[in-house]
Amino acid sequence: MTKIKKVVVIGGTGLIGSKAVKLLHDAGHEAVVASSRNGINAYTGEGLAEALAGADAVIDVSNMMSFDRDVITDFFATSSRNLMGAERAPGVRHHVVLSIVNADQLAANPYMAGKLAQEEAVATSGQAFTIVRATQFHEFTETLVDAYSADGAVTVPDIDFQPIAADDVAAALVEAALSEPKNGTVDLAGPERAPFRSFVSTYLDAKGDNRPVNADAAVDYFGAPVMAGSLVPGGDSIKGRITIAEWLRV
Ligand SMILES: NC(=O)c1ccc[n+]([C@@H]2O[C@H](COP(=O)([O-])OP(=O)(O)OC[C@H]3O[C@@H](n4cnc5c(N)ncnc54)[C@H](OP(=O)(O)O)[C@@H]3O)[C@@H](O)[C@H]2O)c1
Repeated sequence: MTKIKKVVVIGGTGLIGSKAVKLLHDAGHEAVVASSRNGINAYTGEGLAEALAGADAVIDVSNMMSFDRDVITDFFATSSRNLMGAERAPGVRHHVVLSIVNADQLAANPYMAGKLAQEEAVATSGQAFTIVRATQFHEFTETLVDAYSADGAVTVPDIDFQPIAADDVAAALVEAALSEPKNGTVDLAGPERAPFRSFVSTYLDAKGDNRPVNADAAVDYFGAPVMAGSLVPGGDSIKGRITIAEWLRV
C-alpha cells in the first residue's frame, strides 16, 4: 500500500497549485493549501512553521508579477530562503520548485532573473530538492498575444515553442514530490514543438480572431534576446500529453 504523504503546496490557491492540491487529495494524500491569503506567507515567513510540521515534501508554485527586477528577485529569493530555512526544522525530505526552461540563459528578462534567484536559493540551501523547469503554459497564450499585439497584428519572436497544459505541469510536480529528490534540474515541456507563431495562429483561429500573426527575429522575449531554441529544452525532458488543440477543445 502507498504510504500517505503530507505535501505542503506553497501557492496552493493558484493555477498550478490548485490542480496539484486536487491531484494529491484524489490520490489519498494530505495536501496543505498554503497562500498568503490563508495566513501562510513564504515571503514574510508567517505561518510556515505550523504548516510544515510533519510534512514529507513541499511544492513551491508561488508567484508574483512585477516588471521591476529588484522587486521580483527579492520576492523569489527571500521566499525561497524562508522556505528552505523553515523546512530544515521539521526535516522535510524534499523541496520541489517550479521554474522555467532556460531561465539561466534569459536573465535579461527581469522575471527570469527572479526565477534564477529562486533556483539559486534552493540549490545552495543544503536541503534535498528538485527544480522542475517548465515551458510556457497553454494558459499563458492569451497574455503572450496581448504582449505581442500592435497595429492590428501579432508579431512574436521567430523561435521554437513547446507549450504545456497546466494540468500536465501539476501532474509532473506531484509525481516529482512523491519521488526521490534529484538534487538537480529536470525540464518539462509540451508534446509538440513548432514555431511560436504557429501556436499563436492556432490559438487565434480557435478564438475567431483573424489578425495576422508574424514572426520577427528582431523581437525579444520581454527584454531578453532570444534564438531558435531559447524557450525549449536543449536536451532530455519530461513530456506533457495535452496538445494545444486538445486544450482549446476543453
Ligand atoms: N506562466 C507560465 O507559462 C509559466 C511557465 C513555467 C513556470 N511558471 C511558474 O509557475 C509558477 C506558478 O504559476 P501560476 O500561474 O500557478 O501562479 P498563480 O496562479 O499566479 O498563483 C500564485 C500563487 O502564489 C500564492 N502566493 C503569492 N505570494 C505568496 C506568498 N508570499 N506566500 C505564499 N503564497 C503566495 C498566491 O496566493 P496568495 O495571493 O493568496 O498569496 C497563489 O496561490 C510560477 O512560479 C511561475 O514562475 C509559469
